[in-house]
Amino acid sequence: MTASLLPDGLARVLPTSATVGSSGHLEVGGCDLVAIAHEFGTPLYVYDVDDMRVRAREYRAAFSGLPVDGQVVYASKACPIVAVVRLMAETGLWIDVSTRGELEVARRAGVDPATLIVHGNNKSDAELEAALDLGVGRIVIDSLDEVGRLTAAARARGAAPQPVYLRLTPGIEVDTHAFIRTGQEDSKFGLGMADGQALAAVEAISRTPELDLVGVHAHIGSQIFDVTGYVETAAAALGFAAEAARRHGTRLSEIDLGGGLGIAYRPDQTPVPVADLARTLGASVADHAAAAGLDGLRLLVEPGRSLVGRAGATLYTVGVVKESAGRRYVAVDGGMSDNMRPALYGAAYETLLADDPAAPRDAVVDVVGKHCESGDVIAEGTRLPRSVSRGDILVTPATGAYGWTMANNYNMLARPAVVFVGDGNAREVVRRETVDDLLRLMEA
Ligand code: LLP
Repeated sequence: MTASLLPDGLARVLPTSATVGSSGHLEVGGCDLVAIAHEFGTPLYVYDVDDMRVRAREYRAAFSGLPVDGQVVYASKACPIVAVVRLMAETGLWIDVSTRGELEVARRAGVDPATLIVHGNNKSDAELEAALDLGVGRIVIDSLDEVGRLTAAARARGAAPQPVYLRLTPGIEVDTHAFIRTGQEDSKFGLGMADGQALAAVEAISRTPELDLVGVHAHIGSQIFDVTGYVETAAAALGFAAEAARRHGTRLSEIDLGGGLGIAYRPDQTPVPVADLARTLGASVADHAAAAGLDGLRLLVEPGRSLVGRAGATLYTVGVVKESAGRRYVAVDGGMSDNMRPALYGAAYETLLADDPAAPRDAVVDVVGKHCESGDVIAEGTRLPRSVSRGDILVTPATGAYGWTMANNYNMLARPAVVFVGDGNAREVVRRETVDDLLRLMEA
């Protein structure tokens, strides 16, 4: 049997290996997801290892052979699990970290520090010092304040100059949820180009032998379905690089355009193919670089969601099913503690049953969690088979990015385990929290 037996475009949002198995159950990575749910418990995040690897390779291939050198960087915040970061690094990607915790995950994953890019709009001194001590490849300066603190820390260490980028606020507004839009002028991220802060930072760094300004960075937002914003950002960033060269003699050799490529959570969403993004950006950066007299440029991108989002799915066990005022509520054993995205961004997810993924989804229901508030919704007005009942294994596809990492312990729920599936094998890469784990943090 093949994935084409999955109804209604579900194959477009499930991991690529998803099929209907001979038992009639949903299979991913050659594993029966009903059996996986029973073996590891629910809620559970399941990741198709091959899906992640194929996407990482696809990105690498797309960003090589361009008119400029390309480098793909995995934005580990999307899923900062040691096994995921290791897989990305082994596939040749650099790693973006934005906190001390993400840095330590990368360290445990055995990532070469020279391939680490350290972000953060409010890095602590301890975080800057840890990055310097580890010898990270790039630190992305996000404020004038940081120039001073990083210089002091670097001077105290007396090591070779630390390569840095400047994060620019390009003044570009993309069409996505306001919470995940970051390129507009009014932003907590980066240094303003319009108000002269970014140029002031170039000047400050040019007087600082401890820091080596090698590039500029801009991340305009997340879940983006149009390349226009990236092209405009490339133009703005390279225009800035040319001005920095004119005014301060700075030779910038790298341009990092951040992440943000959107994925399909629902079959009616159509992501930009990675190859199209690469081709467009490669050509645009090469043109602008030539016009600005910058040669030998390296183009970097920092995808998170588009590398891991579709590889992951969440499994729940159905509990109470009830009718109320004409609505049918299907309650599952997790909720806004394992997927905050519907409550936070109004994000919509597909739903299906692992027990019978090919069954007609002929009922409209609200899939809700077990938390003590009405906003605890996993999928409002979604479709499921009319027969849905207690004990069924319900699947929400495309939860691989910003799912586990944004999970929390609301109502003292323990965070779910994470399981990798591939070649018919399943491996727990993050164990499930227990209530004892939670109690251990509190005084007796
Ligand atoms: N680079 C930087 C500097 C970023 O801040 C981000 C995401 C990325 C790269 C990766 O973006 P991606 O390719 O994953 O879109 N929690 C939100 C998403 C927040 C994104 C934060 N920054 C969500 O669940 O939609």
